[in-house]
Amino acid sequence: MPRKLLIDTDPGVDDALALFLALGSPEAEVVGITTTFGNIETGAATLNALYLLEFSGHPEIPVARGARTPVNGACRTPATHVHGENGLGNVLIPAPLTAPLRASAPEFIARTVMDSPGEITLVTLGPLTNLALALELEPRLSTAVAQVVVMGGAFRVQGNISGTAEANIFNDPVAASRVLSQDWPLTLVGLDVTTRVVLTPDHLQRLRQPPHRLGEFIWRITRVYEDFHLRRYGLVGLYAHDPTAIVCVLDPTLFQYEEALVAVTLEGREAGRTVMKPLPPESLRVARHVPKICTDVNAGQVIDFIQRRLAR
Ligand code: BDR
Ligand code: CA
Repeated sequence: MPRKLLIDTDPGVDDALALFLALGSPEAEVVGITTTFGNIETGAATLNALYLLEFSGHPEIPVARGARTPVNGACRTPATHVHGENGLGNVLIPAPLTAPLRASAPEFIARTVMDSPGEITLVTLGPLTNLALALELEPRLSTAVAQVVVMGGAFRVQGNISGTAEANIFNDPVAASRVLSQDWPLTLVGLDVTTRVVLTPDHLQRLRQPPHRLGEFIWRITRVYEDFHLRRYGLVGLYAHDPTAIVCVLDPTLFQYEEALVAVTLEGREAGRTVMKPLPPESLRVARHVPKICTDVNAGQVIDFIQRRLAR
């Protein structure tokens, strides 16, 4: 039986790759997409999500538009220098033929999970605002969800938006703190592992051979993102942050984990920093679940997994 995934995303170039990967994997059934700000503002993220679904031949998958700002209403600047002015590497895309649901992302998340208790895996590829709002709306979410997999955090490595913070957590530290301290089955896929999964120009070229529509589209949308990695990190290739989170859902054996509580710095110079806290002794624990943090990855096999699925 495929895993039912509800994906919260801010597409975004690596988000687009992650969606293609999930849609191309027989182990997954994407039951819905919710959108958020981050790489791009929420309106554009929603249009991108609708278009990516149409492009992949899945216009029937529902899309719900999410939060436009962090829970405290602060302003956030989209990462257009990373993902292009339109979030998809400045590749012009037609207006989608489909429209988002009337329900908001938090409403849709709450309803979808409560309608199928124990069946839905929530995967977040952007800031955690929609999830925090869904929890507020429906506190029973934490017992009804199958799993929560978050692309976010930087534990033993540097941040990517500041010296200490990863972008998705930085963009809404208050929401992240609520989501990451919730007693539910949570896995964190942070920069500790995602920066080890590098797609090189050669990998991306191979996706174009023999020539096909998806490989060509991926090549075009990754030009700006690849260029950013060269300028910023001197890296020839790109970090596959969000696709790595999807692989973690579909083949968790490719990762190693540590169990720890997670603290998020809410403000100041280190806002958005994630720190592992030791667990209390088992006899004193009240929580049923302990967060699993990815600390190591079989990067070669993750890249193979991504390559095989995107070449289908
Ligand atoms: C995360 O931030 C976004 O720019 C990417 O899409 C990814 O979700 C990496 O820090
Ligand atoms: Ca993202």
